[in-house]
Amino acid sequence: MDLPDETTARLTRQAPDRGRELRELPPGERDWSRASVTALIEHIQRHFHARHREQLPALVRLAGRVEQLHGAHADCPHGLAELLMAMQQQLESHMMKEEQILFPLLERNPGAVCQGPMAVIHAEHGELDAAVQRVRQLLDGGRLPHEAGEAWRTLYKGLAQFEDELRRHMHLENDILFEAVARAARSEREAGQGDRQ
Ligand SMILES: [Fe+2]
Ligand SMILES: [Fe+2]
Repeated sequence: MDLPDETTARLTRQAPDRGRELRELPPGERDWSRASVTALIEHIQRHFHARHREQLPALVRLAGRVEQLHGAHADCPHGLAELLMAMQQQLESHMMKEEQILFPLLERNPGAVCQGPMAVIHAEHGELDAAVQRVRQLLDGGRLPHEAGEAWRTLYKGLAQFEDELRRHMHLENDILFEAVARAARSEREAGQGDRQ
């Protein structure tokens, strides 16, 4: 018999309005919607990029261990370590693009038109979302059998936390940071028009 588990239920449920859920701030979280481009970039790197670089390699190792320990079990997430490793490479390359190309451009001149690099980053967020969906499909409901040990439970809990953080991270970039850039560009245009009058 399978054990119901709130954490894995969170991982596999289909939220009716994920956008609204993301706009609601978790307890203690600062409202970043009026923050400057520089403050947002610093927070994104210090919090989300650093966390993902800790979380994903640990999840890859844990998934490998679970496959070793429980490979014969019908519910074992076969292939998860490989899928997570591919996602780790995808995410690392994405974060490097932000850190080395997009963020320095935005910090040097927040009002500059950076439509090209922002469109690339936005498209890659869609690809990362698709990778999360592939993990969900592989887990097929994220059922934890009675005999699931500590490693298996920790793995599914860690995956739920990682997915939650990744969604918050992408929401902050797509909906808050890019909006702050558009705001800065608007005020620069208005200031330019004021100078000419
Ligand atoms: Fe990022
Ligand atoms: Fe990103």
